[in-house]
Amino acid sequence: MEEESLNRYLTRLNGGEASGLQALAEEARAEGIPIMQPEALAVLLLCIRMKRPNTILEIGTAIGYSAIQMALASGRGARVVTVERDPILAGRARDNVARFNLQDAVEVIEGDALEAVEAVRVHGPYDFIVIDAGKGHYKEFFTTYAAGLVRGGVVFCDNVLFRRHVLNPEAAPKRIRRLAAKMDAFNRWLARQPGFDTMFLSVGDGVSISIRK
Ligand SMILES: C[S@@+](CC[C@H](N)C(=O)[O-])C[C@H]1O[C@@H](n2cnc3c(N)ncnc32)[C@H](O)[C@@H]1O
Repeated sequence: MEEESLNRYLTRLNGGEASGLQALAEEARAEGIPIMQPEALAVLLLCIRMKRPNTILEIGTAIGYSAIQMALASGRGARVVTVERDPILAGRARDNVARFNLQDAVEVIEGDALEAVEAVRVHGPYDFIVIDAGKGHYKEFFTTYAAGLVRGGVVFCDNVLFRRHVLNPEAAPKRIRRLAAKMDAFNRWLARQPGFDTMFLSVGDGVSISIRK
Protein backbone atom coordinates (compact mmCIF):
# COMPACT_ATOMS: atom_id res chain seq x y z
CA MET A 1 0.00 0.00 0.00
CA GLU A 2 2.75 2.38 1.10
CA GLU A 3 4.72 1.26 -1.95
CA GLU A 4 1.76 2.10 -4.20
CA SER A 5 1.54 5.68 -2.94
CA LEU A 6 5.31 5.98 -3.29
CA ASN A 7 5.02 4.75 -6.89
CA ARG A 8 2.25 7.25 -7.61
CA TYR A 9 4.31 10.04 -6.00
CA LEU A 10 7.38 9.15 -8.09
CA THR A 11 5.37 8.79 -11.30
CA ARG A 12 3.89 12.26 -10.74
CA LEU A 13 7.34 13.76 -10.09
CA ASN A 14 8.70 12.00 -13.17
CA GLY A 15 6.20 13.85 -15.32
CA GLY A 16 3.20 11.54 -15.06
CA GLU A 17 2.07 9.17 -17.76
CA ALA A 18 0.79 10.03 -21.21
CA SER A 19 -2.97 9.95 -21.34
CA GLY A 20 -4.21 6.37 -21.66
CA LEU A 21 -1.06 4.74 -20.30
CA GLN A 22 -2.27 4.70 -16.72
CA ALA A 23 -5.49 3.02 -17.85
CA LEU A 24 -3.43 0.44 -19.73
CA ALA A 25 -1.31 -0.27 -16.62
CA GLU A 26 -4.46 -0.59 -14.50
CA GLU A 27 -6.05 -2.91 -17.08
CA ALA A 28 -2.97 -5.17 -16.93
CA ARG A 29 -2.81 -5.18 -13.13
CA ALA A 30 -6.56 -5.85 -12.79
CA GLU A 31 -6.15 -8.95 -14.97
CA GLY A 32 -2.98 -10.10 -13.24
CA ILE A 33 -0.90 -9.53 -16.38
CA PRO A 34 2.61 -8.71 -15.15
CA ILE A 35 4.03 -5.43 -16.43
CA MET A 36 7.23 -3.64 -15.53
CA GLN A 37 7.22 -1.94 -12.14
CA PRO A 38 7.23 1.89 -12.24
CA GLU A 39 10.78 2.37 -10.87
CA ALA A 40 12.27 -0.20 -13.24
CA LEU A 41 10.37 1.37 -16.12
CA ALA A 42 11.64 4.84 -15.11
CA VAL A 43 15.25 3.58 -15.30
CA LEU A 44 14.55 1.91 -18.64
CA LEU A 45 13.03 5.08 -20.12
CA LEU A 46 15.93 7.13 -18.76
CA CYS A 47 18.40 4.78 -20.50
CA ILE A 48 16.44 5.15 -23.73
CA ARG A 49 16.43 8.93 -23.51
CA MET A 50 20.19 8.95 -22.86
CA LYS A 51 21.16 6.31 -25.40
CA ARG A 52 18.70 7.37 -28.13
CA PRO A 53 18.61 3.94 -29.80
CA ASN A 54 17.42 3.53 -33.37
CA THR A 55 16.14 -0.03 -32.99
CA ILE A 56 14.88 -1.59 -29.78
CA LEU A 57 14.13 -5.29 -29.36
CA GLU A 58 11.86 -6.26 -26.49
CA ILE A 59 11.37 -9.90 -25.49
CA GLY A 60 8.05 -10.16 -23.64
CA THR A 61 5.31 -7.79 -24.85
CA ALA A 62 2.25 -8.73 -22.77
CA ILE A 63 -0.34 -6.09 -23.79
CA GLY A 64 2.26 -3.65 -25.13
CA TYR A 65 2.52 -1.33 -22.13
CA SER A 66 6.34 -1.07 -21.95
CA ALA A 67 6.71 -1.14 -25.77
CA ILE A 68 4.38 1.86 -26.07
CA GLN A 69 6.23 3.62 -23.23
CA MET A 70 9.58 3.06 -25.01
CA ALA A 71 8.28 4.28 -28.35
CA LEU A 72 6.92 7.45 -26.72
CA ALA A 73 10.12 7.99 -24.65
CA SER A 74 12.16 7.87 -27.85
CA GLY A 75 9.96 10.62 -29.28
CA ARG A 76 8.83 8.07 -31.90
CA GLY A 77 12.45 8.16 -33.10
CA ALA A 78 13.13 4.47 -32.37
CA ARG A 79 11.66 1.43 -34.01
CA VAL A 80 10.48 -0.99 -31.30
CA VAL A 81 10.23 -4.66 -32.22
CA THR A 82 8.55 -6.65 -29.48
CA VAL A 83 8.02 -10.42 -29.28
CA GLU A 84 5.13 -12.15 -27.51
CA ARG A 85 4.42 -15.88 -27.59
CA ASP A 86 0.82 -15.67 -26.35
CA PRO A 87 -1.35 -14.99 -29.43
CA ILE A 88 -4.16 -13.34 -27.45
CA LEU A 89 -1.75 -10.97 -25.70
CA ALA A 90 0.06 -10.26 -29.00
CA GLY A 91 -3.31 -9.33 -30.58
CA ARG A 92 -4.19 -7.07 -27.67
CA ALA A 93 -0.75 -5.44 -27.87
CA ARG A 94 -1.32 -4.70 -31.57
CA ASP A 95 -4.70 -3.13 -30.76
CA ASN A 96 -3.11 -1.00 -28.05
CA VAL A 97 -0.29 0.10 -30.35
CA ALA A 98 -2.93 1.18 -32.90
CA ARG A 99 -4.87 2.99 -30.17
CA PHE A 100 -1.74 5.09 -29.52
CA ASN A 101 -1.28 5.55 -33.25
CA LEU A 102 2.16 3.92 -33.06
CA GLN A 103 1.81 1.35 -35.85
CA ASP A 104 4.79 2.86 -37.65
CA ALA A 105 6.98 2.76 -34.54
CA VAL A 106 6.10 -0.58 -32.92
CA GLU A 107 6.14 -4.01 -34.55
CA VAL A 108 4.59 -6.84 -32.54
CA ILE A 109 5.94 -10.26 -33.52
CA GLU A 110 3.82 -13.18 -32.37
CA GLY A 111 5.96 -16.18 -31.47
CA ASP A 112 8.41 -17.69 -29.05
CA ALA A 113 11.51 -15.48 -28.97
CA LEU A 114 13.68 -18.60 -29.00
CA GLU A 115 12.00 -19.89 -32.18
CA ALA A 116 11.08 -16.74 -34.15
CA VAL A 117 14.76 -15.78 -34.36
CA GLU A 118 14.82 -15.04 -38.10
CA ALA A 119 11.59 -13.01 -37.98
CA VAL A 120 13.17 -10.94 -35.20
CA ARG A 121 16.63 -10.56 -36.76
CA VAL A 122 15.16 -9.29 -40.03
CA HIS A 123 14.30 -6.03 -38.25
CA GLY A 124 17.81 -5.66 -36.74
CA PRO A 125 20.56 -4.86 -36.05
CA TYR A 126 19.44 -3.69 -32.62
CA ASP A 127 21.16 -1.17 -30.41
CA PHE A 128 18.96 -1.76 -27.37
CA ILE A 129 17.50 -5.04 -26.08
CA VAL A 130 14.99 -5.47 -23.25
CA ILE A 131 14.53 -8.91 -21.71
CA ASP A 132 11.29 -9.26 -19.74
CA ALA A 133 9.94 -12.73 -20.53
CA GLY A 134 10.21 -16.34 -19.25
CA LYS A 135 12.38 -16.03 -16.14
CA GLY A 136 14.03 -19.42 -16.66
CA HIS A 137 15.33 -18.52 -20.12
CA TYR A 138 17.24 -15.27 -19.67
CA LYS A 139 20.58 -16.83 -20.59
CA GLU A 140 19.12 -18.24 -23.84
CA PHE A 141 17.48 -14.90 -24.70
CA PHE A 142 20.74 -13.12 -24.00
CA THR A 143 22.97 -15.48 -25.97
CA THR A 144 20.51 -15.63 -28.89
CA TYR A 145 20.20 -11.87 -29.35
CA ALA A 146 22.96 -9.97 -27.54
CA ALA A 147 25.67 -11.31 -29.87
CA GLY A 148 24.05 -9.31 -32.69
CA LEU A 149 24.01 -6.11 -30.67
CA VAL A 150 26.04 -3.20 -32.04
CA ARG A 151 29.09 -2.01 -30.04
CA GLY A 152 27.98 0.34 -27.27
CA GLY A 153 24.52 -1.27 -27.43
CA VAL A 154 22.59 -1.96 -24.24
CA VAL A 155 20.84 -5.03 -22.84
CA PHE A 156 18.33 -4.25 -20.08
CA CYS A 157 16.98 -7.22 -18.09
CA ASP A 158 14.05 -6.91 -15.70
CA ASN A 159 13.28 -9.04 -12.61
CA VAL A 160 16.87 -10.13 -12.05
CA LEU A 161 16.36 -10.19 -8.25
CA PHE A 162 13.29 -12.40 -8.70
CA ARG A 163 11.51 -11.04 -5.63
CA ARG A 164 14.89 -11.30 -3.84
CA HIS A 165 14.80 -15.11 -4.06
CA VAL A 166 18.17 -15.00 -5.86
CA LEU A 167 19.73 -14.22 -2.46
CA ASN A 168 18.91 -17.73 -1.29
CA PRO A 169 17.19 -19.84 -3.96
CA GLU A 170 17.10 -22.87 -1.63
CA ALA A 171 14.78 -20.97 0.73
CA ALA A 172 12.34 -19.98 -2.05
CA PRO A 173 8.91 -21.68 -2.16
CA LYS A 174 9.35 -25.07 -3.81
CA ARG A 175 7.43 -24.24 -7.00
CA ILE A 176 9.78 -21.36 -7.87
CA ARG A 177 13.01 -22.71 -6.36
CA ARG A 178 14.36 -23.87 -9.71
CA LEU A 179 13.55 -20.56 -11.38
CA ALA A 180 15.21 -18.63 -8.55
CA ALA A 181 18.34 -20.77 -8.92
CA LYS A 182 18.31 -20.21 -12.69
CA MET A 183 18.01 -16.45 -12.29
CA ASP A 184 20.85 -16.49 -9.75
CA ALA A 185 22.99 -18.54 -12.17
CA PHE A 186 22.12 -16.12 -15.00
CA ASN A 187 23.17 -13.11 -12.90
CA ARG A 188 26.49 -14.71 -11.98
CA TRP A 189 27.08 -15.71 -15.61
CA LEU A 190 26.17 -12.24 -16.88
CA ALA A 191 28.48 -10.53 -14.36
CA ARG A 192 31.38 -12.56 -15.83
CA GLN A 193 30.75 -11.84 -19.53
CA PRO A 194 33.95 -10.18 -20.78
CA GLY A 195 32.23 -8.59 -23.78
CA PHE A 196 29.87 -6.56 -21.59
CA ASP A 197 30.07 -4.09 -18.72
CA THR A 198 27.13 -4.93 -16.47
CA MET A 199 25.59 -3.21 -13.47
CA PHE A 200 22.88 -4.75 -11.30
CA LEU A 201 20.47 -2.36 -9.60
CA SER A 202 17.91 -2.93 -6.87
CA VAL A 203 15.05 -1.01 -8.47
CA GLY A 204 11.63 -2.58 -8.90
CA ASP A 205 12.24 -6.31 -8.99
CA GLY A 206 15.89 -5.72 -9.87
CA VAL A 207 17.34 -4.77 -13.23
CA SER A 208 20.65 -5.37 -14.97
CA ILE A 209 22.07 -3.02 -17.55
CA SER A 210 24.82 -4.38 -19.79
CA ILE A 211 26.77 -2.31 -22.29
CA ARG A 212 28.48 -4.12 -25.16
CA LYS A 213 32.19 -3.26 -25.23
C1 LIG B 1 6.40 -9.65 -17.72
S1 LIG B 1 5.45 -9.90 -19.15
C2 LIG B 1 5.99 -8.57 -20.19
C3 LIG B 1 5.56 -7.22 -19.71
C4 LIG B 1 5.87 -6.09 -20.65
N1 LIG B 1 7.29 -6.04 -20.95
C5 LIG B 1 5.47 -4.78 -19.97
O1 LIG B 1 6.15 -4.35 -19.02
O2 LIG B 1 4.45 -4.20 -20.41
C6 LIG B 1 6.25 -11.27 -19.88
C7 LIG B 1 5.63 -11.71 -21.19
O3 LIG B 1 6.58 -12.54 -21.85
C8 LIG B 1 5.89 -13.53 -22.56
N2 LIG B 1 6.85 -14.61 -22.82
C9 LIG B 1 7.32 -15.53 -21.94
N3 LIG B 1 8.23 -16.32 -22.55
C10 LIG B 1 8.34 -15.90 -23.84
C11 LIG B 1 9.09 -16.32 -24.96
N4 LIG B 1 9.92 -17.37 -24.87
N5 LIG B 1 8.95 -15.64 -26.12
C12 LIG B 1 8.10 -14.60 -26.22
N6 LIG B 1 7.34 -14.16 -25.19
C13 LIG B 1 7.46 -14.80 -24.02
C14 LIG B 1 4.72 -13.89 -21.65
O4 LIG B 1 3.66 -14.48 -22.38
C15 LIG B 1 4.37 -12.55 -21.03
O5 LIG B 1 3.32 -11.92 -21.72
